[in-house]
Amino acid sequence: NLLNIEKEPIRVLITGAAGNIGYAIAPMIARGYMLGPDQPMILHLLDIEPASTSLEAVKMELQDSAFPLLKGVIATTNVVEACTDVNIAILIGGFSRKVGMERKDVMSKNVVIYKAQASALENYAAEDCKILVVANPANTNALILKEFAPSIPEENITCLTRLDHNRALAQLADKLSVPVTSVKNVIIWGNHSSTQYPDINHAKVSTKSVDRPVKELVTDHNWLTSEFITEVQQRGAAVLRARKQSSALSAASAACDHIRDWFLGTPKGTWVSMGVCSDGSYGIPPGLVYSFPVICDKGSWKIVQGLSVDEFSREKMDDSARELAEEKALAYSSLNV
Ligand code: LMR
Repeated sequence: NLLNIEKEPIRVLITGAAGNIGYAIAPMIARGYMLGPDQPMILHLLDIEPASTSLEAVKMELQDSAFPLLKGVIATTNVVEACTDVNIAILIGGFSRKVGMERKDVMSKNVVIYKAQASALENYAAEDCKILVVANPANTNALILKEFAPSIPEENITCLTRLDHNRALAQLADKLSVPVTSVKNVIIWGNHSSTQYPDINHAKVSTKSVDRPVKELVTDHNWLTSEFITEVQQRGAAVLRARKQSSALSAASAACDHIRDWFLGTPKGTWVSMGVCSDGSYGIPPGLVYSFPVICDKGSWKIVQGLSVDEFSREKMDDSARELAEEKALAYSSLNV
């Protein structure tokens, strides 16, 4: 870039910005981990009134960090101001799960919040705004958002399962004593909940540019079909028990990964997991937000097609779809629609 023209800043909304995930993700974004080292940004931080002083503190600390890429910070409790002209919306805010609560318990509180945010984003965000829902129940919150913001293209509404995807990569790397960067193409199917199905049938380990199937390298097949799966499914609950709070830095990091790959593309030969509106691929009913393997290129994603699905996987994929259909019904009943 001979003229060294600076790119236009991208406006990124973070809701729940005064919370733990918000506090972890804001500096990651401002450092360029999400949009690349030459992409300036303006952060729009939204939180609720009781959190307004800590929100102001986050803004102060962001200023004090003198991040070169950070061109401005708007900290507000006004949802319209927060949503105006944003190009990316990372929705973290919501009623969060406490120890002993199931994800379903937080549902009714969150669907109301997501219905309201749907119309704010629909009316005030930039036309091509891309949305990532992090707050639980993430898939169902994303679905509510889609239903109540019908003019937002459905391919722009996604939810986070990259955290589960990364957890699966980490478990495999640990088991095989290989660097996490050498493991690829795990799949998280379904809901970001304990019914998710972490699938290793197509996963590979690349060493010296030779790809070898994980199934061949892990000799303990029992581990793959039991412990590995429950470990990934239950990891969020394990962190919650240990921290007395939900995962924050790993969730923030996964959200950065999700947006980065969506905008800048997935590396060649690699896919990632994203919760997206089902188009009926792999027999998953349309009308659900479901996690699929996707490849991304310059701001668009497509579901990887043609992967073989064995009987064991089929059952688990369907179980999670069933749970999502139940969540959807529950969400609607709590909205009285
Ligand atoms: C996680 O996966 O860590 C969280 O989604 C867990 C939770 O439900 O708070």
